[in-house]
Amino acid sequence: MELVSQKVSVQKADSSKIGQVDFDNLAFGDIFTDHMLVCDYKNGAWQTPEIVPYQNLEIAPSARVFHYGQAIFEGMKAYKDDNGGIWLFRPEENFKRFNVSSSRMAMPEVPEHVFFEGLKTLLKLESDWIKPGIGNSLYIRPFAIASHAGIIASPADEYKFMVICSPAQAYYGGEVRVKIAEKFSRAANGGFGYAKAAGNYAGQFYPTNLAKEEGFQQIVWTDANTHEYIEEAGTMNIFIRFNDTLVTCPISDRILDGVTRKSVITLAEHLGIKVEIRPIKVQELVDGAQDGSLKEIFGSGTAAVISPVSGFGYKEKRYELQTQEDSYATRLKGMLTGIQYNTVEDSFGWRYSV
Ligand code: COI
Repeated sequence: MELVSQKVSVQKADSSKIGQVDFDNLAFGDIFTDHMLVCDYKNGAWQTPEIVPYQNLEIAPSARVFHYGQAIFEGMKAYKDDNGGIWLFRPEENFKRFNVSSSRMAMPEVPEHVFFEGLKTLLKLESDWIKPGIGNSLYIRPFAIASHAGIIASPADEYKFMVICSPAQAYYGGEVRVKIAEKFSRAANGGFGYAKAAGNYAGQFYPTNLAKEEGFQQIVWTDANTHEYIEEAGTMNIFIRFNDTLVTCPISDRILDGVTRKSVITLAEHLGIKVEIRPIKVQELVDGAQDGSLKEIFGSGTAAVISPVSGFGYKEKRYELQTQEDSYATRLKGMLTGIQYNTVEDSFGWRYSV
């Protein structure tokens, strides 16, 4: 896998759509910036990455992505500080995970310079779309698809790596209540739950729709074998606070190695909070809600940052959580966003200047 040329070619849009965007009222993932990055893989090599005006693609209806779901993605954000500095948060983790996902879906790994040179060139071009202020960001969606025509069920020979960007504010508008899965699963042993493969998300939509009909926003996924252990919360990793201890499940081939998840663990330990990484039984949540030891549940992810869960449903019963004055979710989110937006010192070396 060599790159034909290391240069990123840039074709600028004739005009910008930015004037038509209401940056104070952004629904997640609806609006995209003026440009996108495209890099094709063919004849066994990645071609020159190109930045072109954001536009529709022309792909054969028989392309493997449409039939066998050979598609992976990442979620990242760019932040702007009050001096106009643009920052990414631990982007090398996203890059590594992108290629872990690629390998699992039998797709070619993307070279580091295509990912980083392409991304940095794109972000500099779209700088005006990144608004300062905590809560504002530019959501970055790197993804790759099998573009090769032909419906034989085997890995494609041609792919497209692309990056599109969308100005973002909060992922969830209001309170998040979750339903604990009793029947459906997100991932199984030996599967690809750990990969950011498109199919992992498509498979969630139907059970999540059923949960929405019952008034929940997300599902807490449980293990496929017994449904006795919790694994993830919707599209997020999950954290539970029992009394003063913060607990999260270990990563595995079923659970995504979340960048926010591992940052939260480090930050919590830095704050002197006791953290346990261990399997969590659903019954512990039910018992904890009844005896008062269950203090907080929150999800973590790039899009959702840290999202407190206000209640959960399990086997026809509903449990509400009390608001905590010394909320771990609030403290950890404050520290995390402080680093991301360059308002506090970054003693972990997580901020990456664009
Ligand atoms: C993210 O948190 O960035 C994700 O990739 C989840 C996505 C479904 C919004």
